[in-house]
Amino acid sequence: MDWTITSIGASGPLFEGAIAVYGEAFSRPPYSDPDRGAEIRQRIRDTHVFRSGFSFLVACSGPERVVGMAYGYHGSDGQWWHDTVRRALEPRLAEQWLGNSYELVEIAVHPVAQSHGIGAELIENLLDGRHEATCVLSTRTDSDAHRLYRRLGFEEITEMAFTAGGYPFYVMGKKLR
Ligand SMILES: CC(C)(COP(=O)(O)OP(=O)(O)OC[C@H]1O[C@@H](n2cnc3c(N)ncnc32)[C@H](O)[C@@H]1OP(=O)(O)O)[C@@H](O)C(=O)NCCC(=O)NCCS
Repeated sequence: MDWTITSIGASGPLFEGAIAVYGEAFSRPPYSDPDRGAEIRQRIRDTHVFRSGFSFLVACSGPERVVGMAYGYHGSDGQWWHDTVRRALEPRLAEQWLGNSYELVEIAVHPVAQSHGIGAELIENLLDGRHEATCVLSTRTDSDAHRLYRRLGFEEITEMAFTAGGYPFYVMGKKLR
């Protein structure tokens, strides 16, 4: 399978293609959440697009045929994920990983295109040239995605739930320099 990776903004046919891929990927187990595409479109447009370092990549296997997406931004105090993880960590560890960090917020590859290396290439492209000291993310422990992140050099920082009684997540980080 051939694909190309392109940087886009938060509107237009490629953005909508990315949201469709995201919705498809997260409607499957272990997430089984059919509403997630609409939710993430809203969150990106209302909030994430305005964050420093926002970058959105799509992988296309033909003109306007999106098969994968990933985006991130610079992590800062006052952001819900950043503050929640910071509170869960011992202060020195929190500063080491979150003090100057890029957050890999979401990544998805269409189910029929998974396991061809698209996810790895999206992450490598997203992090290429970043000036932050680390890249951080969280991933549910019952998903296989952590295997990909470990292969790309991410290590486990902690395991935690983001809501009382919620699913456990690995919080993972990679040193960028
Ligand atoms: C995780 C995901 C983005 C990886 O993209 P990909 O193009 O399949 O990744 P690559 O081909 O570069 O690497 C394959 C690795 O991804 C992981 N992977 C493959 N299919 C997966 C799936 N359905 N769910 C989670 N991880 C998967 C495996 O670790 C695999 O490595 P392995 O073959 O050594 O087991 C993609 O599988 C996906 O969209 N999964 C569903 C949504 C998701 O879990 N997103 C991440 C949330 S933190």
